[in-house]
Amino acid sequence: MKKLMAANWKMYKTAGEARTTAASLAALTADTLPGDREVVLFPQFTALSPVADALRHAAGYSVGAQDVYPAAEGAFTGEISPGMLMDCGCAWVLTGHSERRHIIGESDELVGAKTAFSLNAGLKVVLCIGETIEEREAGRLGEVLERQLETGLAGVKGDAVPAAIAVAYEPVWAIGTGKVAGPPEIVEAHALVRQLLVARFGEGGVAVRILYGGSVKPENAREIIALDNVDGVLVGGASLQADSFSRIILA
Ligand code: PGA
Repeated sequence: MKKLMAANWKMYKTAGEARTTAASLAALTADTLPGDREVVLFPQFTALSPVADALRHAAGYSVGAQDVYPAAEGAFTGEISPGMLMDCGCAWVLTGHSERRHIIGESDELVGAKTAFSLNAGLKVVLCIGETIEEREAGRLGEVLERQLETGLAGVKGDAVPAAIAVAYEPVWAIGTGKVAGPPEIVEAHALVRQLLVARFGEGGVAVRILYGGSVKPENAREIIALDNVDGVLVGGASLQADSFSRIILA
C-alpha cells in the first residue's frame, strides 16, 4: 500500500503562487520520490487547473479539491460539482474537514452525501474525521469517530473501497495549533478507525488508507508515518512551502 502524502493549502496562495509551489515541489522530489509514496495537493479552486498543469509530468503526483457539492449541476449558487472538478484535472476531493464542519457548519449528513456522490462520479475521496478537545476530555473519542465514519460513509458502496477512499484522522485540537497528538494517541485512534472500517467493509476495510493530520512537520513526519495503521499524512501549515513539504514527502 502506497503512503499517501497530502497537502491541504486551505485558503492560501493565488493561482500563480500555487503553480510555482507545485512546480518547485515536483522539481525537488522528481528523482527521489520513493515508489511507495503518492502525493496529492489540495489547492484553492482557482488554482486547480494551474497546479494540475504544473504537475502534468510529475509521476506520483495528483491534484484534489478541498470541497464539492453533491449534485451534477443545478441552481446551487457558489457551489461546484465533481464533474467540474475533474474537468480542472482533479482526481481527489476532501470531505468533512474540521474547518468546514466547525466554521461553515457542515453536518455529518452533508459530509456523507458529498462523499458518496463524489465517489459515484469518479473522484477519490479523503474523508476527514476527528474529535474536539471537549469531546476527548469527556471520554467521547470512540463515539465521535464512530458517528462521523458511519454517517460519512453511509451511502458508500463496498466496491468503491478501498482504492478510492482514504480516511484522515485529524484531532481538531491538533490542527494548526502546533500541538501534535502523541504516538500513543495516534495509534489508539487509528486502531479504532481500522476496526470501524473493517466492521463496515469487511476485508476491504483493511486496505483503506488512514492518514494522520494535525501539526505534521518535517521534524515529526518520519516518526508519525512509521506508526501502526498510519498510511500517510494530511498536512496544512507545513505543506505551504515546497522545501518543508518535500522533506515531509521524503521523510
Ligand atoms: P495543520 O493542518 O497541519 O496546519 O495542523 C492540518 C489540516 O487541517 O489538514
